[in-house]
Amino acid sequence: MNSSRITYTAPGKIILFGEHAVVYGYPALAIAIDRRAKCTVSSYLSDEEDVVLSTNLFPGKKFLVSSKESFPSSLQAVLFLIKKLTDNFQSNISLQIDISSSIPSSSGLGSSAAVSVALTNSLSSFLGRNYSLEDVNKIAFEAEKIQHGQPSGIDNNVSTYGGSILYQKGLMEQVTVDDISGFWVIANSMVERNTKDIVANVQKNYKRKQEKTEEIFHSIHSIVIRGKEYIKQNKLDEIGELMNENQTLLEQLGVGHSKLTDLLLILKKNGSMGEKLTGAGGGGCVVGLFDNIKDAHSSMKNIKKKGYQAFTAKHTKIGVTIDE
Ligand code: PMV
Repeated sequence: MNSSRITYTAPGKIILFGEHAVVYGYPALAIAIDRRAKCTVSSYLSDEEDVVLSTNLFPGKKFLVSSKESFPSSLQAVLFLIKKLTDNFQSNISLQIDISSSIPSSSGLGSSAAVSVALTNSLSSFLGRNYSLEDVNKIAFEAEKIQHGQPSGIDNNVSTYGGSILYQKGLMEQVTVDDISGFWVIANSMVERNTKDIVANVQKNYKRKQEKTEEIFHSIHSIVIRGKEYIKQNKLDEIGELMNENQTLLEQLGVGHSKLTDLLLILKKNGSMGEKLTGAGGGGCVVGLFDNIKDAHSSMKNIKKKGYQAFTAKHTKIGVTIDE
């Protein structure tokens, strides 16, 4: 152990283009956003070695990793990581792990992956293990599988490396870009949905109408390829247009929802350059692109007035990083 306290943070993400098609081997493009999960590991002397976990998901509660009390399902991935990383670790101290996240959970913004990435990096560093980013990414993916069944792996990649990422079948390419100058408004429909179920519905439709669905995936593929170039060149108008095109195709896949349509309309009326759902759809979040913060803010306020949750975000190049 080389420090008595260590903190890492890792970003959440939005899928800009290509969700669902990515499950069938097509590429998707995601960007990291400036909402982060944070994990601090520290130690204290105690007679009994243990790991004490606190998280802002359960304010005021402390979880003892050794206790027989079962952990809530939302913390199974965290528990898996703590056990995996502290395996073989013996000392006369106990560990304290504090997790907090400003990424709304269960809304398709990569909150669980960001927590896994920040936790893996902080705990392994605290225990003196020199893990590369590749190691951190791989271990976080194992945790993602516990949380989400069969995720594509896009979330842990974006959270580890930051920036903009083209992702296809386990292969990741960083899209080199200085910055995307636009502002994102992310609005939550608060319609709960389960990614697994939505993905299964798309699969059912795929089996029923394979030719039509493949056609949709091809069109999405073409959006991802064009989108990658526009992102590199920071062409906001063009990115916005592609977002709208992608939204139409997602609706054809059957993953729209009336509340999402409501939110997309509000964004459009408030001057967004393009707007679409992000992630699995069927509920969850939509995202709108603005070229100035003033319009983004007033759009966010108008969305909140209608009873939805919303916030503004910027693209970030910073993946998992130490917090000093
Ligand atoms: O809503 P999220 O962040 O779980 O995104 C799901 C994206 C899908 O393409 C539908 C599934 C996946 O694993 O990539």
